[in-house]
This record gives sequence, C-alpha cells and structure tokens, in this order.
Amino acid sequence: MDDSATTLEVLQRNLTAGGYQVFTAPGVAEAIEILEGTALDLVITDLKMPRVGGLDLVRHVRENFKDTEVMMITGYPSVKSAVDAIKIGAEEFLAKPFTDEELLSAVQRVLDKLNVRRSGHTALGQVVSVHKGFIADSRIMHKVFIAIGKAARTSATVLISGESGTGKELAARAIHYSSTRSSAPFVPVNCGGIPEALLESELFGHVKGAFTGATESRAGFFHAADGGTIFLDEVSDMSTAMQVKLLRVLQDKEICMVGSSRARKVDVRILAATNKDLQSLVKKGLFREDLFYRLNVITIFMPPLRERGDDILLLARHFVTKFAAGLGKSPPRFSDKALQSLRNYNWPGNVRELENVIQRLVVMTDGDLIEVPDLPSLMRFSALRRTGFTRTLAEVEAEYISNVLTSAEGNKTRAAEILGIDRKTLRQKLRKMEEPSS
Ligand SMILES: Nc1ncnc2c1ncn2[C@@H]1O[C@H](COP(=O)(O)OP(=O)(O)OP(=O)(O)O)[C@@H](O)[C@H]1O
Ligand SMILES: [Mg+2]
Repeated sequence: MDDSATTLEVLQRNLTAGGYQVFTAPGVAEAIEILEGTALDLVITDLKMPRVGGLDLVRHVRENFKDTEVMMITGYPSVKSAVDAIKIGAEEFLAKPFTDEELLSAVQRVLDKLNVRRSGHTALGQVVSVHKGFIADSRIMHKVFIAIGKAARTSATVLISGESGTGKELAARAIHYSSTRSSAPFVPVNCGGIPEALLESELFGHVKGAFTGATESRAGFFHAADGGTIFLDEVSDMSTAMQVKLLRVLQDKEICMVGSSRARKVDVRILAATNKDLQSLVKKGLFREDLFYRLNVITIFMPPLRERGDDILLLARHFVTKFAAGLGKSPPRFSDKALQSLRNYNWPGNVRELENVIQRLVVMTDGDLIEVPDLPSLMRFSALRRTGFTRTLAEVEAEYISNVLTSAEGNKTRAAEILGIDRKTLRQKLRKMEEPSS
C-alpha cells in the first residue's frame, strides 16, 4: 500500500512477476478493508501516508492479524521511523530507492520466516538442511554455523569475509537474530553505497545547522541501532578519514553527531563485512591496521560455493522448488549430466549467481527436465571438463575466460587486462557465453 501511484505500480508489477498474488490500496482505510475480507501473508506499506500514517497500519495489523507480516518502505531520510516501525512489529524495512532484487529478496525473507513460524519450525527438515536461513549440509558450512553460534553468544565485533554472493549478510542476520539483541534492531548499512560526504551524518546523525541544509537535527544509523546490531557492509569502501572516526567509536563506545561537540554513549554491536582481502589492503596502506584489528576480533570466512561440494545440488533443488512454486509450475528435474555441470562450474558469483541461474531456468523451461543444452554455455562446458582432447576452441576459451574472471574476483577491467583484450570485446564474449545453445 502506498500513496504514490508509481511505487504502487512498481511493487505490483514486480511482485506479480515474482509469482505473488497482489492487492493494492491507495490508503490505510482501503488496506484495512482488504485485510478484513482476505487472509494475507504480508502487508507492504509506505511510512508516509496521507491522513493515517504507515506506523498506525503496522500497529493495527500487529494487534489484529497475528498471521500477517508487515514490511515498511521508507524514504531515504527516515531511519528513525523505520526503526520505530520495527519496534512496533514490522518484520522488515526497505529504504527507497530499492532494486527489484532487493524487493523480492526482502519479501522472500519475510515469507520464509512466516512459513517457519507457521510450521512450528519443522518445515523442510527432511528435504533440505536449513540453518537460520542457510541451505547447507557440507562440513565446511557446519564449521561456519559453529562460528556463527559462538559469535552470537558474545557481543564482540565480527568481521565476515568472503567472495560476493557467499551469504555474508545472511550470516550477519543469523548472528544478530540468535543473539541476546535479537529483539532490538538489525541495521544494515552499505558503506560503499552512501556518498562519502553523507556517510558521517548518516552513521552518527547531525544537529540542526551542522551544515547547509541541516534544518533540523536528525539521528543516524548508530542511534537507530541502539541496543541492537549495526552491519557495516563493504567496510573497505570507507575513506581513511571515516575509518578514523569509526575506530574512535569502537574504542570509546560513544558517538558524536556531526556539528556537536558532545559525545553520547551508545550500545551497539558492530558486524562488518568485506569481499576484499582486508589484510592486503592494510599492507598497501589503504585500510588502517588498528581498525582492522578492532574489527577482526572474531573472523568468519564464508567459503566460496565451489568449495561446498553437494551443497550446490541442495541449493539448486531448493531454488527450483521455490521458483517453480512462485510460478505455479511443478518443479522440473535435472538430468544427471546437467547436475554434473552445475557441480563442476566454478560459480564466481556464488549463491546469488546460482539463485539467478536457476530462476532463469525455471522461467524458461517448459518441460519437466532440465538438460545440459538448457544451461548457460559457461556451465555447459564445465560438464565437459577433464574429458581430454574433445573440446572446441570456443569451449576452451569460455572456460579460460571464466577462470580468469574468477581469479580477478569478477573485476572485468582486470580480467580484460590479463586476457589482453579490451573490455568491450570481453563483454561481447561473455554475452555470447551466456546464451543457451540451441
Ligand atoms: N546457504 C544459503 N542458503 C540459501 N540462500 C543463501 C545462502 N547463501 C546465500 N543465500 C542467498 O544468496 C543471496 C546472496 O546472499 P548475501 O546477500 O548474504 O551475500 P553477500 O555475501 O552479502 O553478497 P555481496 O557480497 O554480493 O553483498 C541472498 O539472496 C541470500 O539469501
Ligand atoms: Mg552483501
């Protein structure tokens, strides 16, 4: 529900495409009318609404509809209200502007939680192994779960590292929601996504008149997370000046709003994540050594998907079931060769890449069997790996390009440099490699 027609349309279009049944309402009264007549899993509401505000709707749903979750959408500058929303019972909040992917994954997260709650925590148990939102059964991931459990029992700072798409944010949420802080807010901050000039006031808030345009004082993410957990994602993207300020917070456990000289105690647990090798950034002088040691009290390394063995197949089946259900299809099976290709492929984008590939396959496949020719070509070649002199030049080239890309951590500029071709050529080759063969 939203008072702006365009947001409403975007939500309706994306959620319908994602396989959900969607009802829309232009205001709180209309929304309540729908709620009374239909059993709904989830209400998505904007915070700012004409007449009755979004917060009142959250409260109303919490008090009257126990089996319905609420997700709040907020404009960029209203962190505090978002936190209020969570305190009175919204399950998630999503800050505008958001991508289609962020919307769908937030919705999925809320619905997954609802399902687990409804089924008394026994759901999925026999089919796949689920641990705090993770689908995994490999020994290497069991070690990760043990580390998450230990981290949850302390309030120490944790540094979560791992390639992109390995589940770092999922791990951070798991730590927060199994810690004693679970009923207080979990506040994720994408340090790389906020302009440098704004980051300090976003984190620490500012007082009235602190800078041009600061017409009133405003709390920051640290205030919002008080009593709970702040998740500093892509922490290596912080400038060295910001690193100094963060170090001070870690040392003194107090923050200073921009424009104020008075420090205030906060009780916030810090979790940080990076997909870069922080230690090597320290060596190069790009990341402060003292901050590194402060953040790195507990380290959790999320292993790349290619090292998780049969988890790849477990996850593939899970995503097939999930997306097929969303589309009202019966889930297709994989041929043995296709499974082997998925298993052998090196997954530079890890779980997120697997999720996207499977989603595309489920949408595109009409039959009930997915076979090797249905897979993107990068994966088709991985089935043929180690079969000796039977490959075409194009297959060898595709595999080599994909390996170089992995070793360059997905950085296309660097991969192109290594391959001795320009970025445009690389892009063309990649596009070609992603086309399914016919
Ligand atoms: N083991 C898992 N089981 C099920 N889903 C997973 C698992 N690991 C990751 N995911 C899903 O994969 C996607 C990527 O995970 P997440 O955002 O936590 O990764 P990340 O390491 O933070 O990635 P990035 O570095 O790109 O920010 C999410 O949709 C998440 O729910
Ligand atoms: Mg992330």
